[in-house]
Amino acid sequence: MTRDDIVPALRMRGVTLSFAAQGRRVGQEVLRGVDLDLPPGEVVGLVGESGCGKSTLARVGVGLLRPDAGHVILRDGTDLAASSARAVARLRPRLQWVVQDPYSAFDPSLPLRRSIVPVVRRQGHATGDAARSLAADALVAVGLQASHLDRLPGQLSGGQLQRAALARALLVDPEVLIADEIVSALDFRVGEEILHLVRRGARERGRAVLFVSHDLGAVALVCDRIAVMDEGVIVESGPTGAVLNHPQHARTQALLEAVPTLP
Ligand SMILES: Nc1ncnc2c1ncn2[C@@H]1O[C@H](COP(=O)(O)OP(=O)(O)O)[C@@H](O)[C@H]1O
Ligand SMILES: [Mg+2]
Repeated sequence: MTRDDIVPALRMRGVTLSFAAQGRRVGQEVLRGVDLDLPPGEVVGLVGESGCGKSTLARVGVGLLRPDAGHVILRDGTDLAASSARAVARLRPRLQWVVQDPYSAFDPSLPLRRSIVPVVRRQGHATGDAARSLAADALVAVGLQASHLDRLPGQLSGGQLQRAALARALLVDPEVLIADEIVSALDFRVGEEILHLVRRGARERGRAVLFVSHDLGAVALVCDRIAVMDEGVIVESGPTGAVLNHPQHARTQALLEAVPTLP
């Protein structure tokens, strides 16, 4: 089987989106005909300067934003871009999204168990103590402890809470994980551990991961393939080694020059 025979877990085609701009009749076109495949078991890096449209594409990929044109197709052929909000909500467990600021991902007034145990219950696999125990296992799998379930988000460090956010996203064993700048606010060492968890999950679960970052160094560490975005267009993509060693586009070269030391 060649690479071309593998059906991507998520296939974006011609994704175009404008935000309505105040006082202007025509909105600012933020995504301009983006094609991007997320194959199962692989981590694809989406890299580009701040403001180039990465987070907007990430939101389109999990169905939080509907593009003006184009398709966002799951493995079974479902097109998110043509699905109702209700249909997208039903698909939610298959598509998970983790963002840069983990404090924004949890209700600050609730101990973590109140945000995480219900995810297990909704899965329908367990109730009561068994659900708590599965939630605790998920925390342990990302290097936390069961006792963290009883803490408030504000009692964890950014790195610990980002692990908890990742644990919650992975509890539903999603087909697609979109990680938007998830290590950008963390120390290098903590970030690196989280990247390894993401990569292992892709390999072991056949999960497709889109790893969004403005930092080509982080992308180089974790990704099988890299797509470089510039002003809403993918200007270059390919296997990580090829893109890093033989960058074709001026934008990729500029991003490479901004990385102090590449692994
Ligand atoms: N909700 C929104 N309304 C209007 N403009 C937006 C909105 N979200 C993002 N933008 C604009 O779209 C462009 C791309 O933003 P974004 O996708 O967040 O870029 P990146 O993640 O690459 O930094 C920016 O010019 C940003 O100001
Ligand atoms: Mg962003």
